[in-house]
Amino acid sequence: MNRSVTVRVPAKVNVQLAVGGLRPDGFHDLANVFLAVGLYDEVTATPAEELRITVSGPDAGQVPLDRTNLAARAAELLAARHGIAPDVHLHIAKDIPVAGGMAGGSADGAGALLACDALWGTGASRAELLDICAELGSDVPFSLVGGAALGRGRGELLTPLDVGATFHWVFAVADGGLSTPAVYRECDRLRAVEGHGAGVDQVPAPEPSPALLDALADGDLTTLASALTTGGMPTAPGGGSSNDLQAAAVSLRPSLADTLAAGTKAGALASLVSGSGPTCAFLTRDEQAARAVAEGLLASGTCRTARVATSPAAGATLL
Ligand code: C5P
Repeated sequence: MNRSVTVRVPAKVNVQLAVGGLRPDGFHDLANVFLAVGLYDEVTATPAEELRITVSGPDAGQVPLDRTNLAARAAELLAARHGIAPDVHLHIAKDIPVAGGMAGGSADGAGALLACDALWGTGASRAELLDICAELGSDVPFSLVGGAALGRGRGELLTPLDVGATFHWVFAVADGGLSTPAVYRECDRLRAVEGHGAGVDQVPAPEPSPALLDALADGDLTTLASALTTGGMPTAPGGGSSNDLQAAAVSLRPSLADTLAAGTKAGALASLVSGSGPTCAFLTRDEQAARAVAEGLLASGTCRTARVATSPAAGATLL
């Protein structure tokens, strides 16, 4: 019998990404408010002679098929812990922008882990799965749990958050990705240029914004929109943002300032870079407004494509 298991995993947007100092281990302490959004990858695990990855979807060519793919690493880590061989074919149906700041690679890691656990009957506990996720990457635990959560540490220590409404978003997908380590390095460089230094002793400990958490819990669109554009330097290209990586992403890709401005002009309530970018996220009033903002962004010529999605979304789910 050649049975297979499919898992659906959401993308994320960081409604707040407060970045602390550079730690001795090369990571930054974060106060990371994750929100899962309804753009999904699907990972299907099928028994095979050896570990193999295939990818479908418009951007499949940009996804690595070797052991650097987090889906492959997830299968290897789970198999090693249970003393079995990671002989599985993992097929990724990719719909989340690649290297876009929406945790697409992390989604595939979490999805492969859950799919392999079900296929192999390893029966890993939730705690073990979360542990493997944290080993795979800072954003992977959130891809597993979904919904909304505050991530502390390097983003892997999660506390679930309440969300009081469905929010409507547009995501402007850029041509080409940005490297997450490069964006963090640029953030450190900008801090050094500003004269503050970038180390843990020089940057204030990152804290979640109480106004933003209340807005999420109350489902208060207006307060959430203003919290998303508070922080950083309002005069920086791209404007003020709850995302401390925004200035760095715009510095590396100055055209993102035009994308952000185009979304605002098209009627978005708030415009910000998603995570390390280059995808830009636009909060809108409702579904109709989201469609209008997406059309305005496409017409502006400042992005490759524009996607409409709602949040929160469920975490990795067996189909
Ligand atoms: O954990 P992950 O593999 O996703 O991290 C990729 C890179 O992003 C790290 O090697 C580091 O350069 C940067 N990073 C960071 N601080 C974090 C998370 C990621 O500096 N909290």
